[in-house]
Amino acid sequence: MQALTIVPSVADSARLADVPEPPIADGPILARMLALGVCGTDRELVSGRYGVAPESQDALVIGHESLARVIEAPDGCGFSSGDHVVGIVRRPDPVPCASCAAGEWDMCRNGLYTERGIKGRHGFAAERIRLEPEFAVRVDPQLGLTAVLVEPASVIAKAWEQIERIGSRAAAWAPQKVLVTGAGPIGLLAAMMSVQRGLETHVFDRTSDGLKPRLVDDLGARYHTGELSSLADLKPDVVIECTGASAVVLEAIELTGPLGITCLAGVSSGGHALNLDVGLLNRTMVLENDVVFGTVNANRRHYENAAASLARADATWRSRLITRRVPLWQWRDALRREPGDVKVVIDFENR
Ligand code: BGC
Repeated sequence: MQALTIVPSVADSARLADVPEPPIADGPILARMLALGVCGTDRELVSGRYGVAPESQDALVIGHESLARVIEAPDGCGFSSGDHVVGIVRRPDPVPCASCAAGEWDMCRNGLYTERGIKGRHGFAAERIRLEPEFAVRVDPQLGLTAVLVEPASVIAKAWEQIERIGSRAAAWAPQKVLVTGAGPIGLLAAMMSVQRGLETHVFDRTSDGLKPRLVDDLGARYHTGELSSLADLKPDVVIECTGASAVVLEAIELTGPLGITCLAGVSSGGHALNLDVGLLNRTMVLENDVVFGTVNANRRHYENAAASLARADATWRSRLITRRVPLWQWRDALRREPGDVKVVIDFENR
C-alpha cells in the first residue's frame, strides 16, 4: 500500500512510498483511511526539524489527524466494520509514569511517550491503518469529513478543561471575555468552544480579510486585526494563544485582567530573543494572581469531548473549516501553504 514517509531529521525527504500492510502489532482493528488533516507539525516533520522513526527503522510514516472506516475488528472489541474512527495520537510511556498509568498520557512526566506519525510510531498517512480499541475513538458518521477535525479539537478540549480547572482555584471565578490569538484551525476551534460556553469571544489574527474574519463573525465572535496592543482595554479573563509567534505570546500574557489565565497552545520555533521586563511581568502576575500555562496533546476524554463539541457546532460552519481536499498522489500540494487555507485535508477516497 502507499504511505507518505519521511526520514526524520532529513529535510525534504518526504515521499509517497510503497510500504507493507500495517502490522498486527499496531492493533486488531483494521481500517481504511478516509481523510488526513495536515498541520504545522507535519510541515516541521517534512522540514527535518522534528520527528523520530520507530526503533531500528529509518523512515517514519507521518500523519496524526485521522478519519478512517473500520474494515475488520475482532468480536466484542466495541467496534465493527463500517464504524468511523479517529486514532488517538499518543501512547503511554512503557515505564509507565504516574500520569500515563492513570490514562493521562497527555501529561506524561518522563517524555518517553510515543506519538503516531510523530515520535517513534508510524502514523496515519497510509491507505490502511491498524488501531488498538483503547486508542480508537468512534465518531458519528454524521460529522462526515469534519470528523478529521476531532484530533486538533481534542487538543483544545484539553486546553479548555485545564483553563476551567485552573479557574476554579478562585471561588468567584466567572469568566466573561476570552481572547484567542491566531485564527488557524486551532484558534477557530478554541473560539468555537468559547462561544459554546456562552463567553464573549474575541479572535485576533494578522489576516485582514477573507474566510477567517467571516468564520469568526458567523460564530458570533468578534474579529480583530492590526496591532494586538490595540486590545489593551479588553482585559480578557482568558487568553488562548495559538500562534506560537514570540511577540504575540508576550503581548498576550500582558493583556489579561486580574485572575487572568493565559493558555499557550501554539509551539514557538525558538531562536527569537525578545526584550522582556521580567520584573514587570512578575509584578503583574503576582499582584493579579495571573496564571500562564502550556498545554499539549490530549487523552481519550478530550477526544470524546472534542467530537461532542464538533457535533454541537453548526454543520455548515464546521465544514467551511476544511478549505482544500487534496488526493494522496498530490500530497505535495497539501503540505504547501496557500493563502486562504484553514484546514487542508488529504482525501484518500479521491483517486
Ligand atoms: C499534535 C499533538 C502532539 C504535538 C506534539 C501536535 O501537532 O496535535 O497530538 O502531541 O503535536 O508532538
